[in-house]
Amino acid sequence: MADGIIKPFVDENYWQYGVTKWIEWDMTSSARAIISGPSGSGKTVLATGITSKISRHLSGCEIFLLDYKNVDFAYLEGAKHYFKYDDCLEGFTQFYDIFEERLKQNTTYNWLVLYIDEYPSWLLSFPAKEQKEIMSKMARLLNLSRAKQIHIIVSAQKPLAEFFSVGSRESFSFKVLLQAPSKETINMLMPSYKDEIETCPTGVGYYTVNDANLTKIRVPFPQNVKAMHDDLWSAVNR
Ligand SMILES: Nc1ncnc2c1ncn2[C@@H]1O[C@H](COP(=O)(O)OP(=O)(O)OP(=O)(O)O)[C@@H](O)[C@H]1O
Ligand SMILES: [Mg+2]
Repeated sequence: MADGIIKPFVDENYWQYGVTKWIEWDMTSSARAIISGPSGSGKTVLATGITSKISRHLSGCEIFLLDYKNVDFAYLEGAKHYFKYDDCLEGFTQFYDIFEERLKQNTTYNWLVLYIDEYPSWLLSFPAKEQKEIMSKMARLLNLSRAKQIHIIVSAQKPLAEFFSVGSRESFSFKVLLQAPSKETINMLMPSYKDEIETCPTGVGYYTVNDANLTKIRVPFPQNVKAMHDDLWSAVNR
């Protein structure tokens, strides 16, 4: 497989006919991805798949992983850029500072990936003033990191516009809705497809690129969880 291409999930319509058609993401240009769906819909499993595949196929990449809840990524304990609970702010600040440094220069860098699990629950752990500061940094990252070899991936049960200041939610090029998103969530992320989106099982849902080509997708459950965790560990510890 060419360097920089990852295959996060398969086309569900082909899958139903017994055909495995993987969907490809080209990670050689900056990506912003948002994964949404109710609790238990498979967001973290998908995000783990995506980040571990990035780790394997984007050579030299460094992943910062912010896990405010510290339930699903405990195996990353001790890795250099794994941050949990209140340390997430430290991780975010470190990442943001590297980004600001990159903005000042014009050169090529190694790939840098920020994954924030349940971004809203982390954000809501702060008083209003700090929330605003994080959101404005997030908006700057989403808007200006495009030419700086930076990927940003977040998961959110409810990706309310108020969590993404000055319309920065619109910067997400890859959007995934899993399982049974509420009407409200569909309207937030894929309003033009609200009549086509149906309730799906866990790990199944929809995907758009730049708000086009609605595709029904399935996240095959990872076969080798240990290898996936090892891949992720190495990029988070780089
Ligand atoms: N693609 C999948 N195929 C089969 N089972 C899955 C898949 N994804 C998730 N699951 C099952 O569903 C459970 C919940 O998944 P996951 O933790 O990823 O959900 P979540 O959306 O992150 O939930 P929360 O919002 O509570 O963090 C997993 O423990 C797993 O057993
Ligand atoms: Mg989760």
